[in-house]
Amino acid sequence: MFPDDLRIWLNHFEHHAQHPRSIPQGLSDLLTPGERRLISASVATFQLGEQSGGATLQRAAERFARAHQLPDLVRITELFIREEQRHAALLRAFMEDHQIPLKSRDWTDRVFRRLRRLAGLELYLHVLITAELIGNVYYRALESATGCQRLKVLCRTLVADELAHIGFESHLLLALRAGRIAAVRSLMRSAHRAFFAGTAVVVWLTHRAVLRRSGCDARNFLRLCRLQYAFYLEPANATLASTSSL
Ligand SMILES: [Fe+2]
Ligand SMILES: [Fe+2]
Repeated sequence: MFPDDLRIWLNHFEHHAQHPRSIPQGLSDLLTPGERRLISASVATFQLGEQSGGATLQRAAERFARAHQLPDLVRITELFIREEQRHAALLRAFMEDHQIPLKSRDWTDRVFRRLRRLAGLELYLHVLITAELIGNVYYRALESATGCQRLKVLCRTLVADELAHIGFESHLLLALRAGRIAAVRSLMRSAHRAFFAGTAVVVWLTHRAVLRRSGCDARNFLRLCRLQYAFYLEPANATLASTSSL
């Protein structure tokens, strides 16, 4: 990834910071008691995951930007963190309007936060993209699981932003991988694939009620997650793409 690619991403994030996606007023906001019971704990876990001060990521991005002379990365990261905080706020507003209790802790969230603190930007990105790819499958399922128009549009809004996040993160990760020797690259790929598969299983187990309501069984859910992973992180032309390494 060259500074020119980063400039394109910077323009994207600046544009969306100035024109954030919003939920239109006047949508039907009816959540039945049954739906509320079904989604409460699950949505609260995802809301918690979206909520982050981003200090660890910002520090890792600053270190990386200095080492590779990529100053735009610092601002992109700042805008990215702001977008995630906006997701948390949109979900929180929905939850508060429907008296869905917020969570302040969850074991899956704690594991993700600890892992992200372990090392530099590259490991952080591996953990982050895992959460975002699986989160995208989840938000699409949540949209199908509910009849509430506001929640449906909220899910679609989150997915629209997350697709860009995943595009950016995978672009950066593929460029970083390309700079490694083949053996290290293959080891990292296998480790990440295993981590991703394990996380998808945990998400299925902890959110299966919502996922099942959307018509997704375990096999479908894991297949959808795998497809997302392959599309972004194992594209057929990854070797070509990787020629533009950092
Ligand atoms: Fe998000
Ligand atoms: Fe995201």
